[in-house]
Amino acid sequence: MRVYELQNAGGIDGLKLLERPMPRPGPDEVLLRITAATLNYRDLLTIKGGYGSRQKLPLIPLSDAAGVVEAVGAGVTRFKTGDRVINAFFPNWLSGEPSEQKFVGAAGGQVDGVLSEYRVFPQHALVEAPAHLSDPAAAALACAGLTAWSAVVKFGGLHPGDTVLTQGTGGVSLFALQFAKLVGARVISTSSNDHKIAKLRQLGADATINYMTTPNWGSQVRALTGGRGVDLVVEVGGAGTANESIRATRVGGTIAMIGVLAQPAGDLRLPIVVMQQLRLQGVTVGSLEDFQMMINAIALHRQQPVIDKVFPFEQAPEAFAYMAAGKHFGKVAIAFGD
Ligand SMILES: NC(=O)c1ccc[n+]([C@@H]2O[C@H](COP(=O)([O-])OP(=O)(O)OC[C@H]3O[C@@H](n4cnc5c(N)ncnc54)[C@H](OP(=O)(O)O)[C@@H]3O)[C@@H](O)[C@H]2O)c1
Repeated sequence: MRVYELQNAGGIDGLKLLERPMPRPGPDEVLLRITAATLNYRDLLTIKGGYGSRQKLPLIPLSDAAGVVEAVGAGVTRFKTGDRVINAFFPNWLSGEPSEQKFVGAAGGQVDGVLSEYRVFPQHALVEAPAHLSDPAAAALACAGLTAWSAVVKFGGLHPGDTVLTQGTGGVSLFALQFAKLVGARVISTSSNDHKIAKLRQLGADATINYMTTPNWGSQVRALTGGRGVDLVVEVGGAGTANESIRATRVGGTIAMIGVLAQPAGDLRLPIVVMQQLRLQGVTVGSLEDFQMMINAIALHRQQPVIDKVFPFEQAPEAFAYMAAGKHFGKVAIAFGD
C-alpha cells in the first residue's frame, strides 16, 4: 500500500510517498480502506516538528479519515466488510472527563496517521459515517467538527437568541458557526478577507467584521450587541486575539480557548477576566461519546461541512501547501480514489 511518510520535520519537503506492507487486523481490530482524509492546522504544525518530543518520526501524518471496512479481526461485532466509517480523534477517550491516558494515541502525532491507503483501527474507535455526507465531508468531522461542537454545544451553555463570536474562516470556525446557528444563536464572525466575509454571510453569519481593517474588533462586537458583549467566543487566535475577545465578551460569558493562530500582542487583560467573571474554557477536541452525539445531530439536520477543495492522493503535498497559503474557506481534503 502507498503511504506518505514524514521523514524529517522540514515542512512539506519532508513528506515522501512510499510503499509499506499491508497491515492485518488483529483481535477487535478493523482494517479500513481509506477513501478520504482532511487537513487540520495541527498537521501544518506537525510537518514542521511543532509537536516536539511527543511526535514520532518517521510519521504518517493526518488524523481524520473516512473509509470502507476492508476486513475485520476476530471478535469484531460492530462492523462488517463494506461498512462506511470515520475514526475518532482520541481513540482512548471513550467518555467522561479527559485524562492524560485518554489523550494517548491520536493519529498523525504520537502514532501513525491516516495519509495511508489502508490503516488498522480498534473497533471501538470507529463510528458509522453519516449517510448524507460525501467521503471528504465525513472525514472533516473528527477534529475540527468535534472541537467546534465541544466549544459551542458542550461548553457554550447557549440558549436560542444568545450571541456567539467566531474568528476567521478555517475548519473549526465554520463548524462553530453552523453549530451556533443550529442551537438558535446569533453569530458574529470575523475574517481577514472581504470575499470570505461574503461567504460567511451566505453560511448564515448575522454580522461580520474584517479583523484586518478593524483591528480593535472587540469594541465593534460590543457595539453590535448593544454594549453587552457576546455570550460565547470561539477563540482560535489564542494569545494574539484573546484581548479583543475579552473586550467582546459579556459579564459572565465564556471564551472557549481552542487555537494558537495569532502571535501574542501584549499582556493579557486578566484583570477584566476576574472583574467580569469571564470563564476561560480550554477545549481539546472531545470524547467518542461526544463524537457520536455530534454525528447524530449532523445526520438529523443533514448539516453539510464546508469543504473548500479536494486534492487527489497523489497531490497530498499540494494540499498542505494550499492550506499553508491560508486561502481556504473551511476544510481542505484529500480523496484517495479506487
Ligand atoms: N484545541 C483543540 O482541540 C483544537 C482542535 C482543532 C484545532 N485547533 C486549533 O484551532 C486553530 C484553528 O484550526 P483550524 O484547523 O480550523 O485552522 P485553519 O482551517 O487553518 O484556519 C485558519 C484560519 O484562521 C483564521 N485566522 C488566522 N489568523 C487569525 C487571527 N489572527 N484572527 C482571526 N482569525 C485568524 C484565518 O481565517 P481568514 O482567512 O478568514 O482570516 C485562517 O484562514 C488552530 O490554532 C488549531 O491548532 C485546536
